Amino acid sequence: MKKSALVAGGAGFIGSHLVDHLTKRDYTVTVIDNLVTGQRKNIHHLLSNGVRLLEADINEPLNLSEKFDEIYNLASPASPVDFDTMPMFILKTGVDGHRNLLDKAKADGSRILFASTSEVYGDPLKHPQDESYFGNVNCRGPRACYDEAKRVGETLTMIYQKHHQVDTRTVRIFNTYGPRMRLDDGRIVPNFFKQALAGEPLTIHGDGEQTRSFCYVSDLVEGIFLTMQSDCTEPINLGSVFEFKVKDFASQVLKLTRSRSSLEFLPARQDDPLQRRPDISRAETLLGWSPKVALEDGLLKTLEYFSN
Ligand SMILES: NC(=O)c1ccc[n+]([C@@H]2O[C@H](COP(=O)([O-])OP(=O)(O)OC[C@H]3O[C@@H](n4cnc5c(N)ncnc54)[C@H](O)[C@@H]3O)[C@@H](O)[C@H]2O)c1
Repeated sequence: MKKSALVAGGAGFIGSHLVDHLTKRDYTVTVIDNLVTGQRKNIHHLLSNGVRLLEADINEPLNLSEKFDEIYNLASPASPVDFDTMPMFILKTGVDGHRNLLDKAKADGSRILFASTSEVYGDPLKHPQDESYFGNVNCRGPRACYDEAKRVGETLTMIYQKHHQVDTRTVRIFNTYGPRMRLDDGRIVPNFFKQALAGEPLTIHGDGEQTRSFCYVSDLVEGIFLTMQSDCTEPINLGSVFEFKVKDFASQVLKLTRSRSSLEFLPARQDDPLQRRPDISRAETLLGWSPKVALEDGLLKTLEYFSN
């Protein structure tokens, strides 16, 4: 029999790729998304292929009578530009919205996966970060609405697992990139592409020595799917282990776009982590997962998307 999945945030960047992935595996997919940062066009090609879009806010009571085998919760604005403009909404979505979905999973006996983030490690004092690290998060900083929402989301997930016998999974997603990112969403990959393609200086906050690792979206989605199918109820890091200095990454974007833009260094952002790289031993051991797509290949596909 066909499996059914509810994907909250399925019209967003990662969510829409996950819906592609599930559809290819013959799932019946329902997307719930209020389109606050997502776009209908991300799943437009699937809507005529049996995927259903419910335009609704997960913070409101879910009027969903049907049961799903699997619930994926990817609903949350995730870009730093959103942290400034809708902090209360982000906090509420991570807490009330996630709780609504956990209640739905509890009522129906569904398995539920929470998309957490590397931001739960804050500005890490341990490097690379494995899942046992508790993190170094500023609860009053500019990123707090997102970081703390995800931390509470993980706590809720753990409570529903231990005390309400809900079958839960948690992934901690590190920087991910690829087609369907919003060009103006302020994250480093679209930002650099946008600036390079417009011939504007690439803006770097700080001295550019800070490092990031970038995972291509198809690899990430495979990791999310494998986590859902696995027996692991503990959080699993998903991300690339190849670390790049932000200024070197900017140079790579300039090379690929054949742009003659310069680099412009701006003051460092408060609480912006200096180093971030996952330890993915757990994913390798339990899921047999590691990213496959080389950075240059992934960036070329992303460039093609942004160029169109
Ligand atoms: N992209 C990354 O590098 C990254 C890293 C770590 C974690 N994550 C997590 O992965 C998930 C997806 O991120 P993304 O990059 O695809 O972001 P995105 O903004 O493209 O997607 C989020 C989707 O959720 C929807 N949404 C937000 N709040 C909602 C609500 N209350 N009710 C219904 N729909 C709502 C948005 O409209 C959007 O379609 C998020 O939970 C994010 O925290 C992403």
